[in-house]
Amino acid sequence: MTTAMRPLMAGNWKMNGTRDSLTEIKAIADGVKNPLSEKIETLLCPPATLLYVATALCDDSPLAIGAQDCHQGVSGAHTGDISAAMIADCFGTYVIVGHSERRRDHGDTNELVRAKAAAANAAGLTAIICVGETDEERKAGETLDVLRRQIFASVPEGATGETTVIAYEPVWAIGTGKTPTRPDIEAAHAFMRLELFERFGAEGKNIRLLYGGSANPRNASEIIGIADVNGLLVGGASLKAADFLAIYGAYEQLHA
Ligand code: PGA
Repeated sequence: MTTAMRPLMAGNWKMNGTRDSLTEIKAIADGVKNPLSEKIETLLCPPATLLYVATALCDDSPLAIGAQDCHQGVSGAHTGDISAAMIADCFGTYVIVGHSERRRDHGDTNELVRAKAAAANAAGLTAIICVGETDEERKAGETLDVLRRQIFASVPEGATGETTVIAYEPVWAIGTGKTPTRPDIEAAHAFMRLELFERFGAEGKNIRLLYGGSANPRNASEIIGIADVNGLLVGGASLKAADFLAIYGAYEQLHA
């Protein structure tokens, strides 16, 4: 396993968290300060308002901090947006792009997601590019077609294991308590691995593939044991340090 393939356990706080929540971030930062962190990379993506303070809290912790979206431009007249350079300026190292909630709420298209990922990379950030089918698409048997299209159009040319992470997040599994079956996750991840290999050659094997959608302390061990699942993107269960750390702890068994 190359360094780039160290599994990544990422938390996405979405539009949750105020200064009161800094105690949870501190508890997560302290809770991952142990030898397991050499094998598992951890990341938390709080709202942008907490980025700078969060990175300061993680000064002496292996917990990385990232943002939940960025603008594709460098700076300028884009009210309400933040640039990748601003995230880097707050010592963030990752940014999520193309989350289905951004695609749904803000109309982010594959082309825009690709531009955002490229902007993130230009600022030195690793982009976590989210893909995944809706319930309708799943029922129509279109899951793999959707993944092919989204990966083709959302991932920038020249993507590497350092610049890019892909998160498979079935839209119907997000925040619903539903998860795909083990064979379904396996099939989706094997398919994405092949797509990346075909497009990027050997480097395509270094791009980590996360699973996201109702991952929690109860199902984490099973999901992280699936072939080509190189980590998790966790929403609801990342808000409480106890849950985040329980999922992190699941990796102990995997690597025992
Ligand atoms: P969830 O969200 O874990 O709450 O389902 C995952 C995500 O949207 O990244």
